[in-house]
Formats: sequence, structure tokens, C-alpha cells
Amino acid sequence: MQKLTQRASWKALQAHFEQMKNVHMRDMFAEDEGRFAKFSTQMDDILLDFSKNRINDETFRLLCDLARECDVEGWRDQMFAGEPINISEFRPVLHTALRNRSNTPVYVDGENVMPKINRVLAQMRYFTERVRGGHLRGYTGQLITDVVNIGIGGSDLGPHVVCDSMKPFAQRGLNVHFVSNVDPTHLTEILKFVQPESTLFIVSSKTFTTQETLLNAHSARRWFVELTCNEKAVARHFVAVTTNRQAAAKFGILDENMFEFWDWVGGRYSLWSAIGLPIALYLGMDRFEEMLEGAHAMDMHFCAAPLEKNIPVILALLGIWYNNFFDAQSYGIMAYNQYLRRLPAYLQQLDMESNGKTIDRQGQRVDYLTGPIIWGETGSNCQHAFFQLMHQGTKPVPSDFLIPARTRNPLGEQHTVLLANYFAQTRALMKGKTREEALEELQEAGTPQDVIDQVLPHRIFEGNKPTNSIIFENLDPRTLGALLAMYEHKVFVQGIIWNINSFDQWGVEYGKELASDILQELSRDEEVSQYDDSTNNLINYYRMMKFSD
Ligand code: F6P
Repeated sequence: MQKLTQRASWKALQAHFEQMKNVHMRDMFAEDEGRFAKFSTQMDDILLDFSKNRINDETFRLLCDLARECDVEGWRDQMFAGEPINISEFRPVLHTALRNRSNTPVYVDGENVMPKINRVLAQMRYFTERVRGGHLRGYTGQLITDVVNIGIGGSDLGPHVVCDSMKPFAQRGLNVHFVSNVDPTHLTEILKFVQPESTLFIVSSKTFTTQETLLNAHSARRWFVELTCNEKAVARHFVAVTTNRQAAAKFGILDENMFEFWDWVGGRYSLWSAIGLPIALYLGMDRFEEMLEGAHAMDMHFCAAPLEKNIPVILALLGIWYNNFFDAQSYGIMAYNQYLRRLPAYLQQLDMESNGKTIDRQGQRVDYLTGPIIWGETGSNCQHAFFQLMHQGTKPVPSDFLIPARTRNPLGEQHTVLLANYFAQTRALMKGKTREEALEELQEAGTPQDVIDQVLPHRIFEGNKPTNSIIFENLDPRTLGALLAMYEHKVFVQGIIWNINSFDQWGVEYGKELASDILQELSRDEEVSQYDDSTNNLINYYRMMKFSD
């Protein structure tokens, strides 16, 4: 297996970078009036404008060459076909099968898994329609008014971002809450607002062994029994989403209230499975399936579009261009829509838990940068938080700017103002403000020369800050499904090019192991000394305070 940095296309990009690093986008736009047409593409109503990037025709050609040389299309076909590409867990990666609306067979170990996927979808539909229709009630006969999802990571972030984003499509009178943190404050603050008689708890855990989720689930169970004095009623108010039916049964979940999924679905790729149960309860199964359809449409685009018009591939290649050639350490997600405020948190796990890796598929340490740091904020708030750095800082932050053309909350001209800011910010980041432009502004304002001399350097904007603009008509279940699948496939393509396994997460296990060891120490009353000097002193300082009561 040829090392990435030895590949012909990689070396060509390195040489090409030396030319491009001093080229300004302002000049490329001035020289080519057809730049947008060349560097934009569309899937349904989702338009990707990637013309505000530090690329020219040659750059784009070399990047697509890199994708071809890394056999991105071959690996893609392997993933969709159920090959065990998760090489450290010896598993297929088949979140795409969960939304395979064509229902063409998908085989795992010789078994077509579509029937069991459809069986769980039918179980979700039956259950959610009975809850939403008032046929399945609490043990006292009260309607279910609150759903509390207890899960963390992929068992929280996916359903959480979807429920947050799809509020306008939710059924009135049914609220969804998400508890994830083992910090007792998280569950405590949620339980203040719900009544046991009208609350349904969903224990979401692929493994049903995650410490935070089990502790929160048992605490919620205790709360329920203490308030209702009715242990038997637990079975009516707790359901489970898991691959581990035995552990769920041990918790007290009835078999008919278990919603299964499978080990070939990664946690951070699982919102399309029964992990999406809170979504289906909140929005209804029809809307949940619209979301699946949107993701399936993006899957078909990813499988069929030529690399040069393939949205996930283009996003992935541009990310690599900045990460590996411009040394950009992070990537920004600027969603100009308040419903998408949790999108950066969701994409952090999707991207950073997938591609935060150092060892390649051959077990060797990579000699290049891999996954970026993902962060972001809604627009226009981002402009009043960190856009100073974006415009005049020393660190490049390539970013995606997303916005729906239409709002569901018309309020005077506010959405139009949001759009104006959206369009203006990527333009300003691209073109900047030259010394001549800044000087002319100050002179036109009648600024005294001595003041101009003092302030002019601070009023110049270098520009040449790359952004992708992603605009679509409405933020609805179908479009959201397509956008989330778009990012899944972007992460996949980057992982293939970086030659890493994007589908395991051994790095999160080590901290958990150390925590369970230290947990034992915190309940003992003698000082600790077996750890490093910092950890020993921190624990002993805590113990001093704890036992000073
Ligand atoms: O963060 C580690 C991780 O294993 C994630 O991959 C997963 O989404 C999360 O913990 C929760 O795991 P589970 O769904 O098994 O409780």
C-alpha cells in the first residue's frame, strides 16, 4: 500500500500549493467571470457554492486525481456492499442500509438485513403511533406528555440535533428531553419539569454498558419508583434501544419495549436506526421516514455523481487541501439558522471521533495531519463571538456556511437581514479590504491625517479566507437528512484518503478505564499516592475538602 505522501497526486498538490499559496481569491474572481458556474454543484435544492476557495482549475483537477488515486469510489462501493471495512472491529459499516429506501438487498454474512431493518421500522411506527395517538398511556391512564432520552455520544447527539432542528414539525403536547451527562445536575434539572405518570424514558445505548447512561437510567428508575411507589409500572415507562437485549432485560425492560439495532451501525452513525426513536415520537414516523428519504437521496448522489460534481467528495477534498497543505488545524460550521444550533456538537463527534486517528490501515503511524478540530456557532451570533479572528486573525479557519432560503418564523424583515449577513460575511472573508479601500473610506469620512496614520493598519482586511456556501430552500426533515448524510460521506472520503479507520473509537476507552480505577480510590478514606504527582495531589486536595465537612 503506497504511503499517501508518496502518491503522485499528493506530490503534485504539494508542488501546486507553492504556486497557489500566494494567489488571492479576489484576483481569481476578477480574472474569471464564470468562476461560480465552474465551482458549484447541486443535489435537489441543496446548492454547494465552493467558488470562494483558494483553488483554480488545476487545483480542483489535482484534488480529484487524489480521490481517484486513493480509490475513493472503490471504497465507497465496498461500504455500501457491506464489506468489513471497519478493520479493527472486523465489522461492516452499514448506516446506509438503515435508510435504503430502495429496499434492494444488503447482505451481512450472507443474510439480507433489509427485512430486520424494516421490522424495526414497523415496530417504531406501531409504538410511536400508539403513544402519539394516546392509545399507549402511563400506568395511571395519563397521556404521555414527556419523553426523556437517556444516552450519550451517538445515542444522544444525533436524535438531539434532529429534534432541535425540527421543532416546527413536532406534535404539540409531546416534549422531548435529552439527558447525557453523568453530572447529576443534567438529570436533576430535567426531572424538575416532568411527572412520572406522564413520562416515557428511552434508555439508548448501543452496548448498554456505558457508565453515564446506566447511572442516569438507574437514577431515573429510582426517581420513578420513589415518586410512584409502583415498581411494576417501570415496565410501562421505560423502553430501550440497544444491541444488547440481555442487559436491557436485566434492567427491567419488557421484550416488546426493546428496539434493536446492530453492531454494523456505528454509534455516531446511528440516528437512522432505532436510536432515532425520540425523533419518531417527537415528529411522527412519517417525518422520520422523510428524513431517511433525504439521506437516501444523498446516498444515491454520493454513489452516482462524478467526483467533480459530488458534494461530499468536494467538501472532503477541500477540507484536505486546507488541513494538509495550508496547515489549517480546525474547520468551522456556521449554520445561519437557530434551529441548527446543535449541528456543530453533532459534527464534532461524527468528524473527530471518526478521523481523530494517528495509525493508518496498515498499523503504521501517519506522517501527515488527519482529522481537524470541528467547531462553530449559529449565524449571526458567530459574528459577535469570533469573527474578529476569522477576518483579521493569524489562523486560517476554512468554514461551511449553511442557510435555508425560507424561514418558518417570518418576523418583519429579520430573515432577510440574516440572509444579507450570510451573503456578506463569505464575501468579506473572500475579498477582504485593501489598504487603498480602507484609506479611501477614512478619507471620505473626513478623518484627520494623523488619525488615519494611526488607525489605517488596523482597518485593513487580508481576505482570502476560504468558505463553502450551502443554501437550500427549507430546513425540513428531508433536507436535514440529506445534509447529515452529506457530512457522513465527507468524513468517510477524508478517512479513506488519510488511509485511517474512521469507524472505531479505541481512544475513548482508555479514559473510561482510568476513571473506573480512580472511582474506587475516591470512596476510600486514605490518601492516594500511586498516581503521578499531579493526579495524587488533585485527588488528595478533593478528599481534604470532601472530608472537611
Ligand atoms: O464516545 C464513545 C462511544 O462509544 C460512542 O462511539 C458512542 O456513540 C457512545 O460512546 C455511547 O455508546 P453506547 O451507545 O454504547 O452507550
